Amino acid sequence: MPSFKQNMKKVLITGGAGFLGSKLATKLVFDGFNVTVVDKQLYSNNSLDHLIPFSNFNFVFGDVRNKNLMRKLIKNKDFIIPLAALVGAPLCEKNKKLATQTNLEAISYIVKNVKKSTKIIIPSTESGYGKTDKNVVCDENTPVNPISHYGKTKLESEKLVLNRGNSVVLRLGTVFGISYRFRQDLLVNNLVTRALKDNKLDIFEGHYRRNFISIEDVTNTFAYIIKNFHKFKNEIFNVGLGDGNVTKIQLAKLIKKEIKNLKIIDNKSKKDPDQRDYSVSSKKLEKRGYKPKVKLSEGIKHLIKYLNKKNYSNNYNY
Ligand SMILES: NC(=O)c1ccc[n+]([C@@H]2O[C@H](COP(=O)([O-])OP(=O)(O)OC[C@H]3O[C@@H](n4cnc5c(N)ncnc54)[C@H](O)[C@@H]3O)[C@@H](O)[C@H]2O)c1
Repeated sequence: MPSFKQNMKKVLITGGAGFLGSKLATKLVFDGFNVTVVDKQLYSNNSLDHLIPFSNFNFVFGDVRNKNLMRKLIKNKDFIIPLAALVGAPLCEKNKKLATQTNLEAISYIVKNVKKSTKIIIPSTESGYGKTDKNVVCDENTPVNPISHYGKTKLESEKLVLNRGNSVVLRLGTVFGISYRFRQDLLVNNLVTRALKDNKLDIFEGHYRRNFISIEDVTNTFAYIIKNFHKFKNEIFNVGLGDGNVTKIQLAKLIKKEIKNLKIIDNKSKKDPDQRDYSVSSKKLEKRGYKPKVKLSEGIKHLIKYLNKKNYSNNYNY
């Protein structure tokens, strides 16, 4: 059985079988934390299989809306990282009630019932900045203006944890990269997947700006904050790439650098249902000691390598 020097701090990750959670759980188990994941495995029942042999990893199949279960799980934890959510505007719009129960009410239950000494680090979203003027670079003091039910639930959950104290809020940019549960709906992952499949990208409202961050940097930011909690306590931090504020057309052009025959169509006749358009600064996080490492161009190369590898096996006949 793999053995690591255990530091015995107990961490509960809700939604830990998902895109971010499966990477984060892996990092924390390897770093020697005692990690419990609770998840109802909506998308993957094998994203944590590689952690089964580790004695410092526990998996609980369950729903964060189940109060009896959560009462037991939140007891005696040093850290709680609530990731369980319905994620993204389209999914939350279709399932408003479930989104409110999962993204907000389940957090409210944790906040009201967990002991004060337990530290909470919760991801939120830069979606809250909504749509801003071209000359505005959003920092953590910029007024928020969520334009989706998803954004609203995440912003409300921020308030709940900040009001209790002993917590940190991370407003994540759009994450890109590879995980044990791959998300194809995220903008960079999605465009690279489509570029490889169709050799063509039809981009709507290509001038809209977004801010990106690799899954490696998100995972490392959580781990960094766990280890240096006193420097971050009771504050909000944007987590994005300094050079990641790019328009959708610029992103498509970065992908074309790697896929030479890619045709980009700057489609001016269609509206994107996703009306987010903002530029975000993560200087506050950098000043406290965490500087993201994986550039967008590098992330695109990794995704191409990953998706090509998958395609080889899908197309192999014998
Ligand atoms: N990926 C991003 O770009 C991004 C950006 C900003 C914030 N976030 C936040 O990070 C968190 C994780 O996002 P992700 O990208 O890993 O999404 P994901 O959909 O891959 O993971 C969510 C996980 O939560 C689980 N889950 C959902 N409802 C549950 C319930 N009622 N009980 C138990 N488990 C439940 C799902 O099974 C899934 O494994 C979310 O809170 C999301 O809002 C993500």
